[in-house]
Amino acid sequence: MRVVSGIKPTGNLHLGNYLGAVKQWVSMQDEIQQQGGETLYFIADLHGLTEWIAPAELAANTIEMTATLIAAGIDPERSVLFNQTRVPQHSELAWLLNNVARVGWLNRMTQFKDKAGKNREGASVGLYDYPVLMAADVLLYNGTHVPVGEDQKQHLELARDIAAKFNLDYGTELFTQPEPMVSKAAPRIMSLRDASSKMSKSNPSVQARVNLIDDDATIAAKFRKATSDADALPQDVAGLADRPEAKNLVTIYAALADVTPEQVIADHAGQGFGAFKPALADLAVATLGPIRDRMVRLLDDRAEVSRLLDRGAEKARDLAAPNLLAAQRAMGL
Ligand code: ADP
Ligand code: NA
Repeated sequence: MRVVSGIKPTGNLHLGNYLGAVKQWVSMQDEIQQQGGETLYFIADLHGLTEWIAPAELAANTIEMTATLIAAGIDPERSVLFNQTRVPQHSELAWLLNNVARVGWLNRMTQFKDKAGKNREGASVGLYDYPVLMAADVLLYNGTHVPVGEDQKQHLELARDIAAKFNLDYGTELFTQPEPMVSKAAPRIMSLRDASSKMSKSNPSVQARVNLIDDDATIAAKFRKATSDADALPQDVAGLADRPEAKNLVTIYAALADVTPEQVIADHAGQGFGAFKPALADLAVATLGPIRDRMVRLLDDRAEVSRLLDRGAEKARDLAAPNLLAAQRAMGL
């Protein structure tokens, strides 16, 4: 079992990114390795180019994302942690696979339609083609399992089709068909001000979002001031159904404490938000504070973070090189 997963280097990570993405990677690392498998995690800096970003910002985001992952519990000794660019085989295999993938297949990708919107002619070729790079990201390592959210299922199907067509066209069994890995559903975290919109780096109010870089007092204040309602917590989770603010705060509590919402309700039923919000604030500070401290310490020495990426890339290249060579040989290169 070899799990391969990438994350785009976006800056200014918030609690939604942590609970919905980063924390999932950390628990996957532990679960997969307990089963004797391997985890490869990469910062998808090449995918970061598909929509324009200032070069200095992209560079900083890559280092900050790496520091965040390590601070949150990804262990560069146990997982192969690297950024795509330092493993040139990603780009090289993507070009080979570009000649296997069909234009008709890419035309069906709904993500391109969503992201390009009405301006399809003005979108970059990279935005159109990035599912092929995603296929290369996984096939390069003969990844067996890929954790996928709903929005990425179609891209994994494409990777499977590309693997099958490559094997057929070139009379080889080189590429393994990666399987989707349905991990524990990631919680969806909503804004602390308006629970009808998700917590996002584009929330207009800074009060709506807890950033991983926030200091303890800021974290606590944001939870104490979070929008809630006047009722006490219900006796069971069904009672949260039409109380989006209450539901969001219980969801956050459960995710931070690593328990189910049912457990949170069992422990706090009947409690009003005057008591629950300070309890949540304490829990958030206790959980997020140490991650922030580790992140800040790592970012004190960005060159060292970069060296960690170099070491990860070295391991990744060792795994990637023979597969790329085999693909080149199969194609007559
Ligand atoms: P944003 O919406 O802030 O721009 P991204 O789209 O860059 O965040 O998402 C990066 C990762 O974080 C993705 O895996 C995404 O599913 C996850 N994520 C983002 N916002 C949330 C949220 N509010 N709740 C749960 N997961 C989230
Ligand atoms: Na998003």
